[in-house]
Formats: sequence, C-alpha cells, structure tokens
Amino acid sequence: MHAILVDDQRHLHWRETETPAPTSHEVRIRVHATAVNRADTLQARGFYPPPPGESPILGLECAGEVDAVGDAVTRWRVGDAVVALLAGGGYAEQVVVPEGQVLPLPAGLDFVAGAAIPEVFATAWLNLFKEARLQPGELVLLHAGASGVGTAAIQLCKQFDNPCFVTLGNQDKLDRCLALGADGGHLRTAGEFEPAVADWATDGVDVILDPVGGAYLEQNLKVLRPDGRLVLIGLMGGASAPIGLAQMLMKRLRLIGSTLRSRSRGDKAELMADMERNLWPLFECDALRPVVHTHFPIQEADKAFALVESNQTFGKVVLTLAD
Ligand SMILES: NC(=O)c1ccc[n+]([C@@H]2O[C@H](COP(=O)([O-])OP(=O)(O)OC[C@H]3O[C@@H](n4cnc5c(N)ncnc54)[C@H](OP(=O)(O)O)[C@@H]3O)[C@@H](O)[C@H]2O)c1
Repeated sequence: MHAILVDDQRHLHWRETETPAPTSHEVRIRVHATAVNRADTLQARGFYPPPPGESPILGLECAGEVDAVGDAVTRWRVGDAVVALLAGGGYAEQVVVPEGQVLPLPAGLDFVAGAAIPEVFATAWLNLFKEARLQPGELVLLHAGASGVGTAAIQLCKQFDNPCFVTLGNQDKLDRCLALGADGGHLRTAGEFEPAVADWATDGVDVILDPVGGAYLEQNLKVLRPDGRLVLIGLMGGASAPIGLAQMLMKRLRLIGSTLRSRSRGDKAELMADMERNLWPLFECDALRPVVHTHFPIQEADKAFALVESNQTFGKVVLTLAD
C-alpha cells in the first residue's frame, strides 16, 4: 500500500510501504478519507510520538470500507462503510484498528464528512461530559471555538442545553460559531477574555475546555464559578504558568488534564460505544454535523498542514484518497 511517510527533513511523501494485517480483534479499513489534527503536525515535526506499539504512520481518524477482519471479529463484514478512531496509521491506503474503535458511517454522510467526526467529537464528548461531568444548563467556555474540537463542542453544548461562549481569532470565525450555536464570543486578538466572559456570565462559568494552557490559566481560574472544572486538552499557549492555589481552594475548582490518544484500547472502545448510543442518532437526523473547512488529495498533505498551521481554518481539513 501507499502511505504518507516523513523523511529526516520532516517532509511528507506518498510512498510504498508494508500493508498491515489485522490480528484477531482488529479490522482493516480501506481508507477513503482521513483528517488533519494538530497532533499530526506535531508528530511530523518530531514532538508527539505514537504510543508504544501503535503505527508510526500519521493519522488519528479515518472513514472507509472494511476490507479484512480478524478471526474473532463478529460485528464487522468486508464492505461495511465505517469511521474509526485511530492511535495512528490513518494517512495510508489501509489501516488496522481494534474493532471497538470502529463505528458505522452515519447514514446520510459521505466519507469526507465521516472522516471529520471521530477525533474531535470524541475529544469534545469525553472531556465535556465524562471528565467535566457537564450538567444540563451549566455554562461553558470553549477556547479555540472555531477549531475542529471547538466546532464539535459548540454543537454538543447546543444539543445538551449548555449555553457556551467561545474565544477565537477573527470576526468571520465568530459569526460562524454563533451560527453553529454558540451564545457569545470574544476575539483573542482584542485583549484578555476575562472581562468579556464576566459580562456574559456574571457569576462565572461552570466548565472550560482549554487547548491553550499556560497563557490562559490565570484568567481561566478567575472566570470559573465555585465547583467549576477546567479541562486542559492542549498547550498551544504554553506548557507552564503560575497557579492561584488560594482561588482553587476557596472556589473548590478542579483542574483536569486529558489526552485521548494515550488511553487504553478498552477505554477507547467504551467511549466509542457511548458516542454511538448518544451521538449517532443526532448525526443521522442532521442535528450534529461535522464541520469541514476544505479537503485535499492526501498527496498534498503538506499543503493541508500549512493551512491548518495558518490558524485560518474553521472546523476540519480532510485528506482524500482516490478509489
Ligand atoms: N487532549 C486531547 O485528547 C486532544 C484531542 C484533540 C485535539 N486536542 C487539542 O485541541 C486543540 C484543537 O485541535 P484541533 O485539531 O481542533 O485544532 P485546529 O482545528 O487546528 O484549530 C486550532 C485553533 O486554535 C487557535 N490557536 C492556535 N494557536 C493558539 C494560541 N497560541 N492561543 C490561542 N489559540 C490558538 C487557532 O484559532 P483562532 O486563531 O481562531 O483562535 C487555530 O485555528 C489542539 O491544541 C489539539 O492539540 C487535544
């Protein structure tokens, strides 16, 4: 098969490599589309190695057709149209994945839309509803609201009755987030977000989903109300910051660090089953829809990376493979 391989100079090449074979509880998928995540751009630069034992090939999600199944697999058949959450390997013509990380392509969606679902909806669902235990009516602050994760999280907040406020980089993105279901927003280019959030939520917010980290910690702690939860999912704004412990103590705040990729196969299977129960009916009636900014042939993955890294995208950038 062909896959995107990264050379010593960090350049991406579409080259021949070995086709993986599924073990007993795995399926192999013929990939029709995969999608870019920030983790891929980091991995290509040598900063985010795959978990031990997982494919060194880039790619955390895909949509395609099952083309082989392990001898203990019962749910899937060759030819099934599916999406999958991967620990790696998606930037390839074929990828093997544990059967529990595979779900049916939601009815009515094509492979491009399907490839834009697994990583960001799993991240938003896991961290808002499992880690932060978001309750109906609670207020949410979403940083990087126009990101892949942000556009998934806005829609989940809307569906589950949680007003949300976004921070992001420009007015066009803010308009699109409001159209998607956000209730307010602030341009990070216009200064600190704390006063804007305080205007929107006079008593503070209950939950923050934060991929920025260091640069935002102090303001995050200020805008959380008592018993608030801050879920840290990324470090785009720095890996360290002083922390106001008195504030944490007095407001009974919780700071939760969370990564999806490093979780066990069992945890991922449980998460996918939970998403199938709770979110798949919403995809199938169009109440949730993956937001795709654009797509490129996979051979142009370098252009897709440059676009994502320009911070100009709204939602996901998808990579397509020829049939
Ligand atoms: N922990 C996990 O399991 C997990 C899983 C998936 C993703 N993530 C993380 O979630 C984040 C979003 O991922 P994604 O793939 O959805 O991203 P994305 O679609 O590429 O969007 C990222 C956006 O973040 C904003 N941004 C960039 N640098 C920033 C900075 N220094 N400070 C504030 N905002 C900045 C930019 O939008 P604006 O200019 O509009 O602000 C950029 O477009 C990433 O940090 C990623 O690593 C974590």
